[in-house]
Amino acid sequence: MNVSALAIEGLEAVDRGEFEDAVLSGLSRHPRAIPARFLYDERGSELFDQICELPEYYLTRTETGILEACAPEIAAIAGPGCALIEYGSGSSVKSRLLLDAMVDLSAYVPIDVSRRHLDATATALRRDYPDLEVRPVCADYMGLSELPGEVNGARRLGFFPGSTIGNLTPGESTAFLRRARTLLGERGALVLGVDLKKDPRRLHDAYNDSAGVTAQFSLNLLRRMNRELGADFDLAGFAHDAFYNAVEGRIEIYLRSLSPQVATVAGRRFSFSAGERIHTEWSYKFDSAGIEALADSAGFVIARTWTDPANLFAVTYLDAT
Ligand code: AVJ
Repeated sequence: MNVSALAIEGLEAVDRGEFEDAVLSGLSRHPRAIPARFLYDERGSELFDQICELPEYYLTRTETGILEACAPEIAAIAGPGCALIEYGSGSSVKSRLLLDAMVDLSAYVPIDVSRRHLDATATALRRDYPDLEVRPVCADYMGLSELPGEVNGARRLGFFPGSTIGNLTPGESTAFLRRARTLLGERGALVLGVDLKKDPRRLHDAYNDSAGVTAQFSLNLLRRMNRELGADFDLAGFAHDAFYNAVEGRIEIYLRSLSPQVATVAGRRFSFSAGERIHTEWSYKFDSAGIEALADSAGFVIARTWTDPANLFAVTYLDAT
């Protein structure tokens, strides 16, 4: 066995303990809830990639279109010689749009919890951008407080695309942005992608696609608990339940028990009444006042905001000032 196989095994053992703790405490609480980040095991990440291709899920293609158009302006505002820091890089498809536009980038720092994603991303980027200094950081960006020494001295441009911030509660968003502002420094900036408030029907459809991929994505969390935690959830006994809460300005996603039932997870029994739900995700939607309030709550100032012609999605450039 080679060293990296050992490292990966070790990493997954830690992940399993974390997952178990989160699930057991999340199912013991009322209302029941499991943090959204656990949706992304290997199968979950694949399903999310499929979601991004769905006709109803306008977010990914709309944001990509905006970035294609505004990347040169982002590069101009940021100026030459920046270090680009990507939060939750995944496969770095969108970051390539910025990498192509930025002038004399000093380094690219993708941050991701998945060592495997990170390695694949770094390998592909080093191949395609041989002159670029790629410095991956394997970490949970919510808790990250330090960057590799190589980015010292350069202006730091953060990149947090995909409306990932929508998964966070307003309190968590502010905490995340404050931390990012500290990490990016006084001369730093953050390019943030947020989904916009719009016709509730359109929002509803984006999380209730006709092919049922989003439902599979939610139900995969039960599958993951069965596999990794020795749980015995009946996948046919739960339904994906996603709707827009206009008062809170967010999509809410749950797994809803279709009948009274008992499930065992890591040796513990949990009973569910008919209709009882496990919360799995928030997906917050913003308007311009909301983006402004969010930036303000963390000490950022909006330099520019770009949207698509139909106003579905926004990319905003926040200055740490
Ligand atoms: C990855 C959090 C941006 O909220 O739109 C998509 C996740 N969940 N469909 C979103 C998701 C179900 C997605 N984010």
